[in-house]
Amino acid sequence: MICSTYWFIRIRPHERSTPVHIGAAVRGLIPLIARGSLPILSRLGPELAHDLGLAGLQLLRPFWPAAGPPVGLSRSCLGLRFAHPLGLAAGFDKNGDYLDGLGALGFSHIELGTVTPRPQPGNPRPRMFRVPGAAALVNRMGFNNKGVDHLVSRLERSSYRGIRGVSIGKNADTPIENAEEDYTVCLRKVYPHADYIAVNVSSPNTARLRELQDRDGLERIWGSLLRARAELKVRHGKFVPLLVKVSPDLDPGQVSSLAANLRSLGIDGVIATNTSTNLASLGADWPAGQRGGLSGAPLHSRALAVISQLRAELGQGFPIVGVGGIVSADHALATLRAGADLIQVYTGFAYRGHALLEEILDALMRNRPAAVAAASAAA
Ligand SMILES: Cc1cc2nc3c(=O)[nH]c(=O)nc-3n(C[C@H](O)[C@H](O)[C@H](O)COP(=O)(O)O)c2cc1C
Repeated sequence: MICSTYWFIRIRPHERSTPVHIGAAVRGLIPLIARGSLPILSRLGPELAHDLGLAGLQLLRPFWPAAGPPVGLSRSCLGLRFAHPLGLAAGFDKNGDYLDGLGALGFSHIELGTVTPRPQPGNPRPRMFRVPGAAALVNRMGFNNKGVDHLVSRLERSSYRGIRGVSIGKNADTPIENAEEDYTVCLRKVYPHADYIAVNVSSPNTARLRELQDRDGLERIWGSLLRARAELKVRHGKFVPLLVKVSPDLDPGQVSSLAANLRSLGIDGVIATNTSTNLASLGADWPAGQRGGLSGAPLHSRALAVISQLRAELGQGFPIVGVGGIVSADHALATLRAGADLIQVYTGFAYRGHALLEEILDALMRNRPAAVAAASAAA
């Protein structure tokens, strides 16, 4: 939560599916509290503002009116039923500490993590930077997280009913040659609690991680993950799809090889894309020599190119989750038109809060297939 706009929760009366159980007076106070906090949070560093904003969100959770999902936007993907296509991308709630608060905002799915087997502090601060002129962020967090056991304990306690994705990774001090051990440890622990699992091999902030996108790396990890999943499926009586999250910095030849590997290795879906190490588009807005992963508006065209190519090479029916630079409804629609089945936001949500969700869901409602729109208007 980079700025405090998340706090402005607006739910229209016609979208409510359940009665509001709190007094109007208490409800009326919430925006006041939120507005009062704005000037304070926006003066803080982005990471501190993020943490405080999320804590506030969780605290106010019991006072929010319940909102039903928008009508006519539900879809099946990965063998799961999503209320609509829009979800929250990985990294926003790495430890599952705020799942119920975030869940109340109306995302169809929330991807928690990336989580590693052991807790780790991540890179030294400062490690998250706003570039407001470009509606962008640059981060070099380095998988700071409280470890997979903590995340599992949060999932066990959560009352969130939407789709739960969990993103898994490796500890920074695990040699890349043993990466599959870390991924498999995480898979085994989160499996009973997740609806899908995202294998993150594309964060630019863990040394050599992106090498795991190559055929050899993917083959090694996936061999181990598929063997473990076969056993977990029997033990828990459920099939959990495994997706890979990829980088926007792959060239067209690499995207082509990746598409072939996705098919041949039996990967269930792809999340495109993570952040980019190409910071050139920020120009003078970013100090030369400072490293990190770029997200937000300047990433959009690159993410779209990867998504379009993947869709062209994989054909219809292969699940693609589109993420990268969705900071408006137009970006969301463009990502779906490029071939994504589902979409996710991070930076746009960090800057614009719930207003972005509302804008995207409104646009999706207006762009529903005519038959669905007519049926719900008649109902
Ligand atoms: C501060 C920050 C932390 C992130 N952490 C993760 C992470 O832990 N795992 C992951 O798969 N992606 C992570 N991401 C990447 C986002 O999930 C997303 O793929 C990327 O930011 C592009 O989307 P956006 O332009 O909407 O932000 C992170 C992004 C940011 C800005």
